[in-house]
Amino acid sequence: MDKFIIKGGRRLVGEVEISGAKNAAVAIIPAVILSDEPCVLENVPAISDVNISMRILREMGAEVTPLSATSYRIDATKIEKCCVPYETARKMRASYYFLGALLGKFGKARVSMPGGCPLGDRPIDQHLKAFAALGAEYKVDQGMIDLTSEKLTGNQIFLDVVSVGATMNAMLAAVKAEGLTILENAAKEPHIVDLANFLNSMGANIMGAGTDVIKIRGVKSLRGATYAVIPDQIEAGTFMVAAAATNGNVLIKNVIPKHLESITKKLEKIGVNIEQFDDSIRVSVDGPLVKTSIKTTPHPGFPTDMQPQIATLLTLAEGTSIVTEGVWEQRFRYVDELRRMGADISVDGKVAVIEGTGKLMGAPVKACDLRAGAALIIAGLAANGITEIEDIFHIERGYDCMEGKLRALGADIEKKSFPDEAVASEKKKAITA
Ligand code: EPZ
Repeated sequence: MDKFIIKGGRRLVGEVEISGAKNAAVAIIPAVILSDEPCVLENVPAISDVNISMRILREMGAEVTPLSATSYRIDATKIEKCCVPYETARKMRASYYFLGALLGKFGKARVSMPGGCPLGDRPIDQHLKAFAALGAEYKVDQGMIDLTSEKLTGNQIFLDVVSVGATMNAMLAAVKAEGLTILENAAKEPHIVDLANFLNSMGANIMGAGTDVIKIRGVKSLRGATYAVIPDQIEAGTFMVAAAATNGNVLIKNVIPKHLESITKKLEKIGVNIEQFDDSIRVSVDGPLVKTSIKTTPHPGFPTDMQPQIATLLTLAEGTSIVTEGVWEQRFRYVDELRRMGADISVDGKVAVIEGTGKLMGAPVKACDLRAGAALIIAGLAANGITEIEDIFHIERGYDCMEGKLRALGADIEKKSFPDEAVASEKKKAITA
């Protein structure tokens, strides 16, 4: 088992380069299936969710050739199987994009129910509703979702909830369906626009991505393309908060400042200085941090995927802050871990009340999901003493070399491997002590 060991209290200073966006890459990789020619993807983050996506492609018969640490040539014309088994699908939520891509290309798909971060109930009814509207039939059998269709035909689809996954899956399935698909109440996140741009670069006809009505006119075939994934909005936001939490001064490079607006505005309210440039942002602190209220909502609101990180920052601010989670049912599971580090947070349903104590103390803690893990890293960097974070595989699902990037900014963080037996005996000692 691997852990991060952080000696807190060091200011982050310097420059950091943001990687490609996880939530764009995990949709764009399956989208390559729709192309009749090989594609080249660039600015792909080196994270385990990408590795799993590539493994799924290979297992189906695609040829995946790394060209560099961040670019791949993918030839999906050789795909023979339309099935993503339980063993791989359960490892990540985004395996559901193989449903839309396989259905759009072959008119059929068999994909295990997806895994992913435990954030409460995560239904996929809206994905299935969209597939059905296009003419597919589905059944769930032995934990596998089976989609079949004689022919996909464009239709009007109204999503009952704003869903990133259902919006992207509907686009993947509709891109080659005959006629016009009008997708209403669509999600507007930057990764939706990125997927549409990639599909359009292959010859698709998608208009309106980034607004709540997306129009997709079906095309007969898609050609190969070379495409660079957008920078990761949430990785950038995480480094912005980490810089603020350590009273640091960091230039965050390879970002799209427009995508960071809601995060920037909140940080400014908290007392953080932000300077924006064309493709970078400088974050610094020269005064006290102050309380604020935040509610997470779909884009362009404050992103739920930044909620644990900003809540951690607010434990260091003066006054009482209120954080309301507006997307997921259970996104405060990390709070118990922050309390172990001295945070004063009470949670009632979807609302957390944070009494800023101005300081945190190092402690052994456990990451319960990806962004919770990022929040614990931030807490560890700001805390007095040593923080040991367990279950860092969650963090590695979505952050490209987080510890290396932090070390380059002056953090004292290292990844240590502990043989499982030793961990078990350590735990036993802790229980019996
Ligand atoms: C995506 O999840 C992201 N994951 C999540 O990022 C992110 O938190 C979320 O969007 C919201 O921005 C990926 O892109 C792989 P949704 P997704 O469908 O698509 C309800 C991270 O940390 N809903 O937009 O699964 C759902 O329960 C992760 O990077 C339905 O009711 O989220 C939720 O309350 C975690 N029926 C809301 O919609 C459906 O069919 C938004 O979910 C689908 C969703």
